[in-house]
Parts: sequence; structure tokens; C-alpha cells
Amino acid sequence: MGEPLLKISGLMSGYGDVQVLWGIDVAVNEGELACLVGSNGAGKTTLMRTISGICTATGGSTHFNGVDITSASPNAILSAGIAHVPEGRRLFRGLTVKDNLLLGAYLRKDKDAIEQDLERVYDLFPILRERRRQDATTMSGGQQQMCAIARGIMSRPKLLMIDELSLGLAPKLVEELAETLVEINKQGTTIILVEQDVMTAFELADYAFVVETGKVMKAGPTSELIDDPIIREAYLGM
Ligand SMILES: Nc1ncnc2c1ncn2[C@@H]1O[C@H](COP(=O)(O)OP(=O)(O)OP(=O)(O)O)[C@@H](O)[C@H]1O
Ligand SMILES: [Mg+2]
Repeated sequence: MGEPLLKISGLMSGYGDVQVLWGIDVAVNEGELACLVGSNGAGKTTLMRTISGICTATGGSTHFNGVDITSASPNAILSAGIAHVPEGRRLFRGLTVKDNLLLGAYLRKDKDAIEQDLERVYDLFPILRERRRQDATTMSGGQQQMCAIARGIMSRPKLLMIDELSLGLAPKLVEELAETLVEINKQGTTIILVEQDVMTAFELADYAFVVETGKVMKAGPTSELIDDPIIREAYLGM
């Protein structure tokens, strides 16, 4: 296999004087479904934000598709093909589901293809077609999560990053979302998932990165990590 689609080396980042990431190493190959797990405050969200350019790296590098995007702007990173579905969904109040979805495509100029992609996300999440004229923030938590993921897809990303897939959602809905993500992944989008529920994450993903205090303390195929005694005790309560 050639170069990974996303290659992060020694990445450091934080907020002002507060350093949060202390040399993160991550490599994700094209077509993979990877997950990022770790305790509250480990730095998972900060890593997502630094990859997508919302937080500024203070050291190390991020390469995407062979290009150094370490210091690129959020728009440039989105244009390069990374979509970030933020923690807490962040849909726009007062805008319909359809308009929220179209905002995901705001940097694109290919009008016909945008229409096609709108149909594609309505096929992936039929409830969004039904609710397309409703204020997005008046939907249920699960429907809003679908809308946030669909908005991410509307930029036609090569890499889709989802921060906290299952937070606050009923198990049955999480299962449904998981199936849809596998489908999106099969259609060719590489995915990085941040997930509190490590079992769900391991069932869904091929590869996992375990983040603790701003470092990757373990990485490997989920089929191997699930049998790791330390991981079992610390994250799976076994
Ligand atoms: N805007 C901010 N300003 C200052 N410190 C912050 C800010 N956001 C996060 N932090 C700090 O950075 C550290 C990592 O937070 P981060 O949100 O990246 O963790 P996380 O792994 O996503 O946690 P969780 O699982 O709770 O979402 C924490 O100590 C947090 O207090
Ligand atoms: Mg977080």
C-alpha cells in the first residue's frame, strides 16, 4: 500500500498557553474506517479541531492526500476533502434541514452535482427528505445527528470525521447510524469516528487509536485491541 490518506506526525496543539496534544501520531489509509477512543479530556476533540484547522498546530505535521495541510485554513482543508462533524452537531437554528445540508456544500460550485448529492443523502437518511422543510434544530437528537453527518457528506469529502457519534442517542438508533456509516464507507469515503462507547467503536471500525493525555498510547486493528488485557480492563470494563 502507498502513503496513508491522512498522516499525522508529532502533532502538538492546544488553547493559548494550555497545551493539549503532546505529539500525536496517526495514520489512516484510504478506504479505512478508523476510530479514536479515550477518556474525557484526553484530547480527541482537540485533535479533530487541529486536523480541520480550527485549532492551530504548534508542532508536528498533518499530511492529507500527500499535501502538507498543517497550517492550512479551515476552508482550504474542507476543499482538500476533509469534513468535520463537530461534537454537539452544531446545526443552524432558523434554517431548514435542506438549507443546513446545502451549507455543507457552500464551497462547491458544481450545482448539478450538489443536487445529486442532496438526493444521495436523502437516500441514506430518508427521514431528512421527509423533514427537509423543518427547522433542523427542532428535530430529535438522532435526526439532528443524521443531519449533521449528511451535511458533512455534502462537501463530498474523501475523509469524514465524526466527533461523538452516539452521545445521547438510543442504542437502536446508534445501530442504525452505524449501518449507514458502513454503507457510506463502502461507497468510498474514509471515516474517522470519535466514540465514547468503545465497544460500539470497536465493532464498527477496522482500526483504532487510543488517546490518553494528548498522546496515542495504543493503536492497532480493532480485532487485536479487543483482546488486549489493558484495553479490556480500562475501556471495556472486562
Ligand atoms: N476552548 C478551550 N480552552 C481551553 N482548554 C480547552 C478548550 N477546549 C478543551 N480544552 C481542554 O483541552 C483538554 C482536552 O479536551 P478535548 O475536548 O479535546 O477532550 P476530549 O477527548 O474530546 O474529551 P470528551 O471525551 O469529554 O469530549 C481538556 O483538558 C479541556 O479542558
Ligand atoms: Mg470531545
